[in-house]
Amino acid sequence: MLRSVITENDSTEATVTLQCTVRDLLPHDVPACTWSGSATHLRHVERELVRVASGAVDYLAVCTPVDLPVAIGGIDYQVSRGAGTLWQLAVLPALRSCGLGTLLVRAAEQRIRDRGLRRAELAVEEDNPRARALYERLGYVAHGREPQAWDEEGPDGSIRRHETMCVLLRKSL
Ligand SMILES: CC(C)(COP(=O)(O)OP(=O)(O)OC[C@H]1O[C@@H](n2cnc3c(N)ncnc32)[C@H](O)[C@@H]1OP(=O)(O)O)[C@@H](O)C(=O)NCCC(=O)NCCS
Repeated sequence: MLRSVITENDSTEATVTLQCTVRDLLPHDVPACTWSGSATHLRHVERELVRVASGAVDYLAVCTPVDLPVAIGGIDYQVSRGAGTLWQLAVLPALRSCGLGTLLVRAAEQRIRDRGLRRAELAVEEDNPRARALYERLGYVAHGREPQAWDEEGPDGSIRRHETMCVLLRKSL
């Protein structure tokens, strides 16, 4: 199978096409996901992976040909009755705007459909218009807003409560 294609445009530029696959994020992947957030965030991801076994959560990884995660995100089935709620979506900063976020959201929607559910939901911070534009391009429609809060780790390792306002979006699948 052809896993990557390089087209040299000239000596300083090339187009690289990589075959990426979507699979479940596994506990042993977490150390390779430091790009997605702080140590506190990764501990949170690890806790969510424990919930996968009970079926409460799916956690997906988009992986390169060497099986390294470059985009990750979870689906929680216990937030909203009859829906899968996407959260913690993140793409490796160096590979943003290449379509990986779109691939991740589409794979998550397929997981939700596979469970016989017909609605996907998510919340995006009001000051994250780029992410919101992506979701709206994929068919998500805003239906409300709500304050949310979570612990965030600062550069010095200290933990502080991040309080924010989120737009709630949903899509019929
Ligand atoms: C939000 C996020 C997950 C989106 O992932 P992404 O991989 O950048 O998303 P996509 O590439 O699929 O789409 C985003 C953009 O790329 C463009 N794009 C998509 N496919 C493309 C392609 N093949 N070639 C060029 N551009 C493309 C889209 O038009 C879109 O345009 P924009 O850059 O003007 O916004 C990612 O930016 C991220 O991790 N952000 C930080 C964390 C975050 O905000 N998470 C969301 C919390 S709700």
